Amino acid sequence: VSLSVANSGGNATSPYMYGLMFEDINQSGDGGLYAELIRNRAFQNATLESWSPVGGAALELDASTPLSQALPLSVKVTGGKCRAGLKNAGYWGMDVKKTDKYTGSFYSYGAYSGSFTASLVSDITNETLATTRIRSKSVANAWTQHEFELLPTKSAANSNNSFVLEFRGGKKTELKFNLISLFPPTYKNRPNGMRRELMEKLKDLNPSFLRCPGGNNLEGDYWGNYWNWSATIGPLTDRPGRVGTWTYENTDGLGLIEYMNWAEDMDDVEVVLGIVAGLYLNGEVVPEAELGPFVQDALNELEFLTGDVSTPYGALRAKLGYPKPWKIRYVEVGNEDNLWGGLDSYKAYRLQIFYDAIKAKYPDMFIFSSTTDHVYKESGQDFHEYTRPDYFVSQFGMFDSWSAGNPIIIGEYATIQNNTGKLEPTDWDAPKNQWSNWIGSVAEAVFLLGAERNADRIWGATFAPLLQNLNSYQWAPDLISFTADPADTTPSVSYPIIKLFSETRIKETLPATAEGSDFGPAYWVAGRGDSSYILKAAVYNSTADVPFSVSFEGLEAGAMAHLTVLSADSPWAHNTPEHKEGVRTTVTHLTAGEGGVIEFSLPDLSVAVLVADK
Ligand code: AHR
Repeated sequence: VSLSVANSGGNATSPYMYGLMFEDINQSGDGGLYAELIRNRAFQNATLESWSPVGGAALELDASTPLSQALPLSVKVTGGKCRAGLKNAGYWGMDVKKTDKYTGSFYSYGAYSGSFTASLVSDITNETLATTRIRSKSVANAWTQHEFELLPTKSAANSNNSFVLEFRGGKKTELKFNLISLFPPTYKNRPNGMRRELMEKLKDLNPSFLRCPGGNNLEGDYWGNYWNWSATIGPLTDRPGRVGTWTYENTDGLGLIEYMNWAEDMDDVEVVLGIVAGLYLNGEVVPEAELGPFVQDALNELEFLTGDVSTPYGALRAKLGYPKPWKIRYVEVGNEDNLWGGLDSYKAYRLQIFYDAIKAKYPDMFIFSSTTDHVYKESGQDFHEYTRPDYFVSQFGMFDSWSAGNPIIIGEYATIQNNTGKLEPTDWDAPKNQWSNWIGSVAEAVFLLGAERNADRIWGATFAPLLQNLNSYQWAPDLISFTADPADTTPSVSYPIIKLFSETRIKETLPATAEGSDFGPAYWVAGRGDSSYILKAAVYNSTADVPFSVSFEGLEAGAMAHLTVLSADSPWAHNTPEHKEGVRTTVTHLTAGEGGVIEFSLPDLSVAVLVADK
């Protein structure tokens, strides 16, 4: 490929080009990013899941003395030996590190004058890793909160550890407990915060936006089961939680405020706020005449986030400890409203009603439609694609012919099935891949290059789903897999591509003319960085290495450049917790030759970025 890259004539690239998309799927929030270690801490799913008795005690769910309106069920512990209590297995274990301080709390109900013991114990050896005594404040006929800290005396060998809460047992013992909580240190030390190493992995992607809450979990499965922002704010005692779309209990401890803190902690990435738009996944749709309260609720949500303290919802935010308004500049109305029988009503009234109401109050907010099948006025559009490698590659040029109005967020994309030998899209009745394979990741890269070339149309792109707890998940493949043990955290083979593309942002595309060759098997986009020229390229389905000879107009002979190439040993290379090195990264330093020409070659199934200093 012989490329001449002009010095002008392209388009400015969106500053948001790479970002993150979050919904609670695959225990990615509860049991994932949300750092709470105690599973089923407030019995929100009306079971004793994850709890077991200790010291001969008996456990039962109790509804007779609600801790709060939102948390009506507690656990009643009766009987037992001299030390009795209850044990929590966490979200498939708990990581215990000697260097960490664990911060806990619980509510108890019932007269008790002794002390409680809170401990972290190994399930394998029964060894106590950390323990503390807590003087009881527990009284008859009222709930009392106890707080404590645990400082492990040693690190656990693995994550097979549990939390134990004990007290004096006996025939007369009867105590109730609720909201039993334990946090390790969190990312940027936020109270009620996020798991550190997962957040670090996300931050390392250099994201510019956070689309949240997106996905099916926003909408809910049936009438009324939507993600209700106002039930996810305030003290944890006021958050009822809900069984989300992906069938497990969402505690909503990771709620709207925590999303905003997350965005802030990632150096103020732009939030693309998903708002509920009156479509349920069972196909029920809120009729036009009944949509008013939903629209008002969206306006209340926006006022809660952005209003000053003189507004009712701004005042509520301040009361919850956040006087300073956040910035919301991007809103998405619903999620995939072209599906589940939602398109007709979306076209007929839903998008339009939300759009007009939000714009009337917030004229500067930019509003995305949740589909490319329907836009309204200046709305953006959201393109989702889960497909096969060849199909992605065939879509390299798809945005070239799209009109330049109505900017596109690629709000979800991933390769989820293998090629079949024919150019076929996903078969939703067939299984998805367990892990991202390298051939699929390269195909995603080709698709992203096609998106980057259309800088005047594409607002940003994000892989989905983002996270997967390997102990319980509903959707694979995912970008980052994990367990309770941080050593298992595994970025997929798509991760280094996104990281590389995101770290080498093109500010403005530049026209690249190829002499005698067209796209395929090599694909590329050229542009200008802050003080560099950039060429991003991928090779897909080539029988031989592809030589490149690139000249950037204005680049002098002797200019320095570096070439980062990502490749793998096989098209099926993938990462697992046991083997995380599926992708090879090589960096080569190059010097521009006569006429500023830079030469290199790329192997089949590789992704590369060339950065030449201006
Ligand atoms: O990312 C998984 C699901 O795929 C999302 O919940 C939904 O938006 C899409 O169909």
